[in-house]
Amino acid sequence: MKEIKQFDVVILGGGLAGIYAALTLDSNLHIGLFIKDSIERGSSNLAQGGIAAEVIWDEAKIEEHYEDTLRAGGYLNDKEATRILVEEAGKHINQLLSLGVHFDKNSDGSLVTTLEGGHRSRRILHAGGDDTGAHVMADLRETLSKRDNIDVFENEMAIEILHNQNKALGVIVINPDNEEVYILANRIILATGGIGGIYKKSTNEKIACGDGIAMAYRAGVAIKNMEFVQFHPTGFYVEDQIGKTFLISEAVRGEGGILRNIEGYRFMEKYDVERMELAPRDVVSQAIHREMFDTWSDHVYLDITHQPKEFLMKRFPTIYKHCLEYGIDISKDYIPVAPVEHFLCGGIDTDIYGKTSMQNLYAIGECANTGVHGANRLASNSLLECIVFAGRVAEDINKEKDTFGKIDVILPDMVFTHKKFNFKDIRVEIRDVMSKYVFIVRTEENLTLAKKLLTKHYNNLKKIRVFSRYYYETINMVTVALLIIDQALARKDSIGCHFRLN
Ligand code: SIN
Repeated sequence: MKEIKQFDVVILGGGLAGIYAALTLDSNLHIGLFIKDSIERGSSNLAQGGIAAEVIWDEAKIEEHYEDTLRAGGYLNDKEATRILVEEAGKHINQLLSLGVHFDKNSDGSLVTTLEGGHRSRRILHAGGDDTGAHVMADLRETLSKRDNIDVFENEMAIEILHNQNKALGVIVINPDNEEVYILANRIILATGGIGGIYKKSTNEKIACGDGIAMAYRAGVAIKNMEFVQFHPTGFYVEDQIGKTFLISEAVRGEGGILRNIEGYRFMEKYDVERMELAPRDVVSQAIHREMFDTWSDHVYLDITHQPKEFLMKRFPTIYKHCLEYGIDISKDYIPVAPVEHFLCGGIDTDIYGKTSMQNLYAIGECANTGVHGANRLASNSLLECIVFAGRVAEDINKEKDTFGKIDVILPDMVFTHKKFNFKDIRVEIRDVMSKYVFIVRTEENLTLAKKLLTKHYNNLKKIRVFSRYYYETINMVTVALLIIDQALARKDSIGCHFRLN
């Protein structure tokens, strides 16, 4: 006997996009929020810098945010979606405030703003100094806990989309007792995050396996712009450390941080004399990569020693403390940094209401390709994208809620193998291959080799269907890795985060 649950709306993912959508949907809707791990894990919680937003309606300033976003994105951005992003920013920041989020404030009560790469003015709001994601998410979880129309299921991983004739009907979930549960819903929202877990080093948790993107791909949904994997220039470098990498926020460069190679030479003037350290991330990561190559090194330094200790301790409490644990006092010492995987600019293709190519299926947050990032995301536009497009999805669903009813569906008979494989070796190889051959600088030869190595695993994994989180994470990882490789092979020119040597 299959266990079946039904909701008006099912949301997969408990990051900013997922929770904000849940809180913005009509409170008469019965919502199921499914999170594959604990609600406190996940990339939104790790965001340091902040949220880019012009909060006061000022046409010239909003136009500048629009142009900065396009310029960082190599003008490959969807112009309509980008305009929506910058114009609706203020409205959604106000909504966040009314949902109980506390941003850092000046003594006169106005919001504090900072600067990051690619922005012409100080428009980044932050919370807890350099701990924005953790603060925003804690405030939203508090509000979520008071909503009785939203049922939260932690440690429940969705593995397949139930669909018929290109219409989404629900998802199959593995519950904490390792049982199959069929979740039916009138509308399904994918907010499953990014792909950091397919690289050896990422600012994200290893649990970011591209689950939503791979699941959508298996269901035949359109996936776009996967070649645009953004590498953050300043992951905290610790020799031989792999996995989740502590981020040194771009806001450190916003407050005057200088990049130096291991010989102490300030090198950004060679790469972008106009914007220097505050050039967009693709430019800075590629510059660091080149400097590391030329100096036979695996890191460079970030120097913020000209700022007073008191300022650094107040403005960057998390970074200050973390570096000190490694014996680095950032008011006196250079911080060792190197580029690491940070963000996927593409993903499940959507329109300006978050609708995917499958009816009743939406995508928001990092797993979505709304088109606002183009070939490279502007700093602190990711949390903004989460709230603006989650808000639009909620608006779209709220309009249609009166048509919702019981879903009649003949459930498929999925045949699973119940084995205890852990697929560790395959995961290690995926991360090795992606970090070696599908990193900042790409060549036809390396991409082709990566494709060959990973296709073998994909074909083997497809032959079996093991009913476990570990199987699904692994096949999801190899699926998104191959999507990145294929789309990187197809784009012969260099643009944004996609740098082709040949
Ligand atoms: C950072 O603080 O550098 C990360 C913010 C972002 O990813 O936009």
